Amino acid sequence: MVKLRSQAWFDDPDDPDMTALYLERYLNFGLTRAELQSGRPIIGIAQTGSDLAPCNRHHLALAERVKAGIRDGGGIPLEFPCHPIQETGKRPTAALDRNLAYLSLVEVLYGYPLDGVVLTTGCDKTTPALLMGAATVNIPAIVLSGGPMLDGHYKGRLAGSGTIIWESRRRLAAGEIDYEEFMRIAAASAPSVGHCNTMGTALSMNCLAEALGMSLPNCASIPAPYRERGQMAYDTGLRIVHMVHEDLTPLKVMTKPAFENAIMVASALGASTNCPPHLIAIARHAGVDLSLDDWQRVGHPLPLLVNCQPAGAYLGEAFHRAGGVPAVMRELLDAGLLHGEPVGVSGRSMAEVLAPIEVADRDVIRSFDAPLMPEAGMLVLRGNLFDTGVMKTSVISKEFHARYLSNPEDPDAFEGRAIVFEGPEDYHARINDPALAIDEYCVLFIRGCGPVGYPGSAEVVNMQPPDELIRRGVTALPCIGDGRQSGTSASPSILNASPEAAVGGGLALLRTGDRVRFDLRQRRVDVLLPEEELAARRAALKPFVPKNQTPWQQLYRERVGQLSDGACLDFSTSYQDVAHTAGLP
Ligand code: FES
Ligand code: MG
Repeated sequence: MVKLRSQAWFDDPDDPDMTALYLERYLNFGLTRAELQSGRPIIGIAQTGSDLAPCNRHHLALAERVKAGIRDGGGIPLEFPCHPIQETGKRPTAALDRNLAYLSLVEVLYGYPLDGVVLTTGCDKTTPALLMGAATVNIPAIVLSGGPMLDGHYKGRLAGSGTIIWESRRRLAAGEIDYEEFMRIAAASAPSVGHCNTMGTALSMNCLAEALGMSLPNCASIPAPYRERGQMAYDTGLRIVHMVHEDLTPLKVMTKPAFENAIMVASALGASTNCPPHLIAIARHAGVDLSLDDWQRVGHPLPLLVNCQPAGAYLGEAFHRAGGVPAVMRELLDAGLLHGEPVGVSGRSMAEVLAPIEVADRDVIRSFDAPLMPEAGMLVLRGNLFDTGVMKTSVISKEFHARYLSNPEDPDAFEGRAIVFEGPEDYHARINDPALAIDEYCVLFIRGCGPVGYPGSAEVVNMQPPDELIRRGVTALPCIGDGRQSGTSASPSILNASPEAAVGGGLALLRTGDRVRFDLRQRRVDVLLPEEELAARRAALKPFVPKNQTPWQQLYRERVGQLSDGACLDFSTSYQDVAHTAGLP
């Protein structure tokens, strides 16, 4: 029997004074001394739901089922709030808050009498923030996803979160719909509790948490209102108590092979472009060496198997009914790619978990031999404007390919005129300016949108062409930037360019009118200028002076790294396994 860390608070025979002080206040809402000194594991429920965080709000109700599971497993539940992170509600960016929620969770898990924790995940950054915290502290931890909303519908068509917004803003610009209809479509895409129902960042990251082995099998895809979601909450509560007895900690689950499995699953899902930075951040806090090179090596060659928006047609309900993450992993295992040996929070190896799994709908989850698209993983590019940028190849449309990537003399490459915007405000102010003379031979650039620049890094690289071009049928231009884009966007942008312009990255040197070339086969993006010209521009570059609106923005900007390295706080990754190495003060 493992000695419980909570006993150091509630039952330390060598220190009756402190035991008395710790005990008495936790009795004041009805817990008994017998419970707290019973030697039963005390399980935290890291609650990310609130009225400010609607994507995760459903967890407030699910926590009751988690508590029932914990009690039936022989544990004692203690629910506590996490810093809210609502992707669609937080200014200037929700990304700014991921590391703040992480820091806060580390402090709670380290400093309070908890033997294990249930991580309630959902909206985009809540999943990485909580996994990063659990990795740093390394007490037994299990993910409970909140699940996607039900599928949205509008006028007989599926209306997927985010994806329908990007489509509708184009239709608004083209004059096909008005403001009122735009708002009706937006509301139709959010028909119930839960997080985004597309394969955006939320569903992608919850799927990757499952692929890592950090949730029970099948947890990620169950739509939030389904009865299975409440049952999964109960099973998760039950399981965490046993994990404490088994001392099954995050660092035993989140190994390098487990991360490679997650990357493979990301390719098969057509996962969000936010997954590389988040997964790299989780790995760094787990002390696992993971980089964009791993994404290129392990992820890029893999095919797209899952037919979900934005890369495909369906939404979360169909994905769940087709078998969800286990069905996708089974395809990859049968193809001889997935690592079968990693042990997840279920206590079983992936191979054991996947043995009975079958795909239930082949239109939604394709077989490895008949995929939706071959070589569909993230492409990692380099060049004289940045050291790394990422492109989601699974969303390259036929039209985009025909216009920009099918010149027989120069296949997979394109040369165009750069149009440079200094952040999203500048983009909105000038995109329709006739003086820019934007045509289909232009490449739109946006800078000042990385972790330091915006701060947090803004989801703005999927820039819409000028209204005039849209009316002529040009619905997408090549876009490149040091910010991110929504995981629900089908734009084949080159994004997350690192280092960002604000810290002197090459994008800072670019000017409107420059000729630029991207070559997907060579995996390069370059401005076609001589080295001397670039050096002269660099010498004339003025340093970026951030205007911080809050104290956290200042601290964040002073210590955050680049998206290529997961945008972690530089000092935080040196703290590892703190529940075991640091000891109690
Ligand atoms: Fe929260 Fe998409 S906005 S999950
Ligand atoms: Mg987003």
